[in-house]
Amino acid sequence: MKSTEIKRSIHWVGAIDWNVRDFHGYSTPEGSTYNSYLLVDEKTVLFDTVKKPFAGDLLRQINQVVDPARIDYVVVNHVEPDHSGALPEIVDVAKPEKIICSAQGQKAMIAHFHREDWPYHVVKTGDEISTGSRTIRFIETRMLHWPDSMMSYVVEDKLLLSQDGFGQHWATSERFDDEVCPCELMRQSAKYYANILLPYSGLVRKLLADVKSSGLEIDMIAPVHGLIWRSEPGKIIAAWDEWSRQVTKNKALVVYDTMWQSTHLMAKAVADGVQEAGMSVKLMKLGEFHRSDVVTELLDAEALILGSSTLNNNMLPQMADVLCYLKGLRPAPKNAAAFGSYGWGGEAVKLINEAMEEMRFNIVDTGVRVNYVPTEADLERCRELGRKVAAA
Ligand code: FEO
Repeated sequence: MKSTEIKRSIHWVGAIDWNVRDFHGYSTPEGSTYNSYLLVDEKTVLFDTVKKPFAGDLLRQINQVVDPARIDYVVVNHVEPDHSGALPEIVDVAKPEKIICSAQGQKAMIAHFHREDWPYHVVKTGDEISTGSRTIRFIETRMLHWPDSMMSYVVEDKLLLSQDGFGQHWATSERFDDEVCPCELMRQSAKYYANILLPYSGLVRKLLADVKSSGLEIDMIAPVHGLIWRSEPGKIIAAWDEWSRQVTKNKALVVYDTMWQSTHLMAKAVADGVQEAGMSVKLMKLGEFHRSDVVTELLDAEALILGSSTLNNNMLPQMADVLCYLKGLRPAPKNAAAFGSYGWGGEAVKLINEAMEEMRFNIVDTGVRVNYVPTEADLERCRELGRKVAAA
């Protein structure tokens, strides 16, 4: 892949991972990119590296612009291994004068690489360094989404190097927002927000407010995954504002798993009831839909209705999986209910309700349980459940 000049003397030199399909539990059917950026000035600066197996790609990309041995400073905005994995190779080749990072970044690098001897240079919010004709200002973004996270801002170019912020997992040969389908770009961006940033939405709102009140002018946002926001940086900032406030639509999700199709029939009836009551509905069968797609759809949904057959006095494993994932991502409370078929014990509905109560969801009904195969009267109870959740 070619390096790409994104601003005068600032180059994308990252790697494209066409084949990655799982990102610690987040499905990435379109792959991802690990974006590094190289600023060539009196001092040459590399911003972030790439996942370790792509170290050779990174060195080749840098070599298209300058000899990697010429790198003076390496800025580590984020230590997660998809961005710092190739750091040891870069340090070996470049022998940088400084590795610039937050205080937490230094601790994290020592814990990852066990190299106390590297030339760490700790910065905090507002600190600046000059590279000659450019000024780089640092903005700590602690817990967005790791303790070490920070962003770098090239003052003269109004360029925000936003690490994971405003990114997407989407492998493309294109580098800029205006070169790809805008709907797909926003869909990938929403999925990224829902699966990575959702638990930190309060901190996102604070960051956006701080950026606004500081008057920071942003002409371009260059994240470490996906496309660079060249034409409409304001569009992704506005979207993050909306997602961080978890603005909902008149929409319910019916998410379920089924053993012998009885819970499937119930799910369809619940969805019919939701729709009859004038609410938009999306039906998602686990196994066909991945947990990370469920969370993405939940981002703007008002209600969540979960269904599972009972297996060995418990819910089906895929339902337990999605509940565990949801609990960690801490979505804003939703109106909720549960349903499911059973043979003898019938515990799944109760257990799902308990899990949703733990997430502070508003359980609007104790739920519908059906012994073995639903009758028409049972399906009407399911439709009524859907109507009741929609009304709530
Ligand atoms: Fe893309 Fe948090 O690493």
